Amino acid sequence: MNKKSVKDIDLKAKRVLVRVDFNVPLNKELQIADDNRIKASLPTIKYIIERGGKVILMSHLGRPKGEVKSEFSLKPVAGRLSELLGQPVDILDDCIGEKVKDKISKMSEGEVILLENLRFYKEETANDKDFSKDMASLGDVFVNDAFGTCHRAHASTEGVTHYLESAAGFLVQKEIEYFQKILTQAQSPFIFILGGAKVADKIPVIKNMLDKADIILIGGAMAYTFMKSKGINIGSSRLEENSLGIVEEIFADAKEKGVEIVLPIDHVITDNIDTAANVKITEGESIDIGWMGVDIGPKTVELFCGRIKESKTIVWNGPVGIFEKDKFALGSKSLALAIADSDAVSVVGGGDTAAAVAKFLLSDKMSHISTGGGASLEYLEGKVLPGIAALNDK
Ligand code: 3PG
Repeated sequence: MNKKSVKDIDLKAKRVLVRVDFNVPLNKELQIADDNRIKASLPTIKYIIERGGKVILMSHLGRPKGEVKSEFSLKPVAGRLSELLGQPVDILDDCIGEKVKDKISKMSEGEVILLENLRFYKEETANDKDFSKDMASLGDVFVNDAFGTCHRAHASTEGVTHYLESAAGFLVQKEIEYFQKILTQAQSPFIFILGGAKVADKIPVIKNMLDKADIILIGGAMAYTFMKSKGINIGSSRLEENSLGIVEEIFADAKEKGVEIVLPIDHVITDNIDTAANVKITEGESIDIGWMGVDIGPKTVELFCGRIKESKTIVWNGPVGIFEKDKFALGSKSLALAIADSDAVSVVGGGDTAAAVAKFLLSDKMSHISTGGGASLEYLEGKVLPGIAALNDK
């Protein structure tokens, strides 16, 4: 990586302003439903503590849109982080201002504080200059370890870098390392597994992958639009009429570039997703009217898993069925098991796919699970992430 690392900066007795992505899911009781993003930030935080830095953590949680709303408070995160670190983590009730400055001025080396949700100020997402300056005045150096937010040019990811020496934390470095490996030195056969609901959201990533991957396996709701474009009956499955044109272009592009696109050859179908009372498996690729595809079928599982077995590089973005419901989870689970069994370098895009792999208790069997949803997608699209670009070069 050509960017400065937290290892390259002097931390001793410094006020180290660290952007983390503590945007974690909370349940109705405001308890943390998944603490992976908190755990992923620990190596950087511990390193700064060990080097005698004063750790000032900042993050957003949800999208409160510039308003102070208690359900978006980072308080639950401070509690969990404190447990994981084994030391107190003080949560302040603001992220800028005199009170915050005063508190920071009294910090000792190795102490950790967490500022309140940055998005309680609309200036954060607006990347406001004065707000960025105020944030920057809280620290002597800046470390960005919020990979999941690096695709946003916000005050805490991009704005502050104009005023402080800025380096990448270990999580950001690890994520970049894996994505770079995939994008620039992938070993063949390189399989891209694509799932999820919306074709429209994934067009840029498909286009970029047509230049990188050898095979694209398509499952999930988006597969039905690809099938429809080939003239296959999809019954009442989800169809994106508006994307049919672009899907035709994708097929033509893939043919020209010698990339094989593999679609499901059978499906798990139901006539009612909510009740899931009637569930069947189709004989072949065609789906009858009144029925909708909700997972890949067993023949497709065999086909896809066979390809996974032969591959040396795997990128997986998007579950291939409605994995949240056990009746429709077998396809995604089977693929996760096949990837877990393979020796290929496997990178799982964040968000839903990471949640699926976690549900099947296979997270530690993947080479890398990205903590970024949108950020990992944009990286795979070949975009430059502003939060990374803004850091100082080595
Ligand atoms: C994410 O969860 O993808 C990041 O935390 C970014 O959140 P955002 O999409 O609200 O900017």
